Amino acid sequence: MMPTLPGVKHLAKGLTVLLASLSLANPVTAGALPPRSDSKSCGNGNEADSPRRIGFLLPRAFDIIDIFGPLEVFQALSRKTHLDMFLLARTLEPVKTEPASASMNQFNSSFYPTFNPTHTFADNPPLDVLVIPGGAAARSPDLGPEIEYIKKVFPSLKYFITICTGAGIAAQSGVLDGHRATTNKAAWNTMTPMGPKVKWVSPARWVEDGKVWSSSGVTAGIDLAFEFVRQKYENGSAIVESVSGSIEHTVITDWRDDPWAAKFNVPVTN
Ligand SMILES: *[C@@H]1O[C@H](CO)[C@@H](O)[C@H](O)[C@H]1NC(C)=O
Ligand SMILES: *[C@@H]1O[C@H](CO)[C@@H](O)[C@H](O)[C@H]1NC(C)=O
Repeated sequence: MMPTLPGVKHLAKGLTVLLASLSLANPVTAGALPPRSDSKSCGNGNEADSPRRIGFLLPRAFDIIDIFGPLEVFQALSRKTHLDMFLLARTLEPVKTEPASASMNQFNSSFYPTFNPTHTFADNPPLDVLVIPGGAAARSPDLGPEIEYIKKVFPSLKYFITICTGAGIAAQSGVLDGHRATTNKAAWNTMTPMGPKVKWVSPARWVEDGKVWSSSGVTAGIDLAFEFVRQKYENGSAIVESVSGSIEHTVITDWRDDPWAAKFNVPVTN
């Protein structure tokens, strides 16, 4: 009896794999799958499951490109498939990118645009994705409402994305505990202590860990966004090719391609 057990297990596993691949390959047997307009489309995303309600957290003093880099990519995607955008802040007042503390604006420069949110944390619109930016915001001592909102909304999200030091804000919320994540290598020593239970990863241009995606510094968020689009939307690869061409961005497609880790002496963690 004993020797046959592993064989039976093997057979059962083989059957499951075979059945799974049959139902994937043949939409008629699967029944519920929507018809595909292009059976050769090379994105991995199934149209019906694609995230459509994309939220962006706007804390005071957020880094502009952390938001508008990924937003640019999603906006281009929104011309090819339906998406809704949510810009979330404490109130509907314009969000200042100027740091609250004068010490973070040493020369009293007036180089800080403001942005209008579309929703408040209290509105709590249903979201598929929430993007957390960093910037001076990540070092703010006044993040209470942002942290509460992240804690509240995290369980209902399909995907949670941090850009740059936005991982520090997320880490302070506790939602990265136990997850693999990365952050800006120039800010590694300041950010990683904000999440002692996070499995920090370096080198990494970005890291995917189930529903949690995190990028390294600022412009790495654009590469993360392109990879997200490639994986999660139908025809994703073709969309990435077309959009990256139209904005003339050379996409980094290898998540381990991170020269900044060595440049900033961040130890290899994986
Ligand atoms: C900073 O600049 C603003 C104008 O942008 C001015 O009103 C303010 O007095 C300046 N503050 C200091 C401390 O120089
Ligand atoms: C996929 O994307 C390419 C480039 O944008 C486009 O030419 C093609 O029509 C798309 N196919 C589908 C099925 O959306």
